[in-house]
Amino acid sequence: MAALLFTAAGGALIVSWTAALFYFGALCTSILIYRAFFHRLRKLYSLRWVLPHLQYYSSAEKLHEKYGEIVRTGPRELSIANVDAAALIHGPSSRCTKGPWYSVLVALDLPSLQSSRDKQEHKVRRKIWERAFNAKSLREYEPRLNRHTFELMGQLKDQVTDSVRITDWLNWYSFDVMGDIGFSHDFGMVRGGKEDELITKLHKGMAGGSIFGHLTWMINLLVRPGVGIEDIVEFDSWAHDVLKRRHKIQPREPDVTGWIVDPDEEDLAKHVPDTKLLIVAGSDTTSSTLAWLCYELCKNPAVQIKLRKILDAMVGNKAFLDVEDVANVPYLDGIINETMRLHPAVPSGVQRLTPPEGLTLPSGPYKYIPGNTIVWTHTHTLQRNADYFPRPMTFIPERWTDEMSATHLLDKRAFQPFSAGTYNCIGQKLAMMEMRSVVANLVRRFEIEFAEGEKGERIERDTQDCFTVIVGALDVRLTPRTAGKS
Ligand SMILES: *[C@@H]1O[C@H](CO)[C@@H](O)[C@H](O)[C@H]1NC(C)=O
Repeated sequence: MAALLFTAAGGALIVSWTAALFYFGALCTSILIYRAFFHRLRKLYSLRWVLPHLQYYSSAEKLHEKYGEIVRTGPRELSIANVDAAALIHGPSSRCTKGPWYSVLVALDLPSLQSSRDKQEHKVRRKIWERAFNAKSLREYEPRLNRHTFELMGQLKDQVTDSVRITDWLNWYSFDVMGDIGFSHDFGMVRGGKEDELITKLHKGMAGGSIFGHLTWMINLLVRPGVGIEDIVEFDSWAHDVLKRRHKIQPREPDVTGWIVDPDEEDLAKHVPDTKLLIVAGSDTTSSTLAWLCYELCKNPAVQIKLRKILDAMVGNKAFLDVEDVANVPYLDGIINETMRLHPAVPSGVQRLTPPEGLTLPSGPYKYIPGNTIVWTHTHTLQRNADYFPRPMTFIPERWTDEMSATHLLDKRAFQPFSAGTYNCIGQKLAMMEMRSVVANLVRRFEIEFAEGEKGERIERDTQDCFTVIVGALDVRLTPRTAGKS
């Protein structure tokens, strides 16, 4: 073809261009005619165009405000903002399957626990992972967690100046914890006070994942020639190396890899996707939530004071709080849950495909959704719905405690920060432990406020939805509490 184009005189060139134009013209026209007149979603919903971008959830939210509970956001894609639908789609007995978004992950890789679209395969893998996150295993991770939080507090104490880039420290902390508990790998980022180059690469690579999640067909165009995914490829080989190193040692304390990879395993490559999943799912999620939590503490000093009082009364003079000291503090959990409600770590939620027979919704204006339709129930939108959470835009930790739950927590099913059903987040208990540990110690040691000139706009504006979020910068002033008070 190319040869023909170059050698041929004008005539042949025009003929082949005409043929190509005719071919693609006919193809596009037939697709458009099909979508305009015959598509199975056509009668139900008209298409609202929204270009994929890095704060997709906010566009989705605006569309819902304008057009109601169900919005058609792609030829065969719907966004649904209704708790009954969300419970049905993500609930334990849902017949929905994972949508094509997950094929993006698989196109880049072998299937991991998360990307595996086959229900049976997921069940088998999930069983293995569950041992790594059951109550006994979690208790065994506690000493590591305590050590990392202790180290973070020590470093922050030395950092006390008028301005601390808290988002960096939280990010380093969460990667350190994940490396250690995940595969006994020492990132040492908090100790060194700087980011491992790998994390920078990972974050760059992740931005693509978000965009292509909504344009799945395009990923093949990129992956085949390997354009634009160099960072992802490098992350892959790094994960492989870490796994190899971990495989050679016998860790002194149990880690997650110990449960997932058999010591006699020879084919390590097949475990690389799970290693990467562990890093991505277990670190940015926690650190972005903690970053938003600090932001809310700065905006709501009364919340900070109330928590400090509760902790002081509970633990007396104890200088450092261990994970088990703060396992049952309802107000602390209320602060964490309220943060996850307003700022979920996976704002768009997870994509699902309706079963072939379609889906009948229990409520709402439209009852029937045809089979093989892609559905999203944006977590960010659901969790800011006044029908489920009165005064939705106000940060009220008491919503989650006996104080106000009767009036301000009307439908807990709409709270899905860790997703729901069989595919929910397996690490959620570990995440809660990590967050309690950091928040309790931080509030007990320091008074936290916005640094001079900081108003929180960067974290609001620059946060990117890359499936998990990468938060914008936040600078705070940390004032150590005087000895008498602690
Ligand atoms: C807070 O969130 C966690 C995680 O989703 C949940 O298990 C817990 O029940 C929530 N707390 C309350 C009081 O609802």
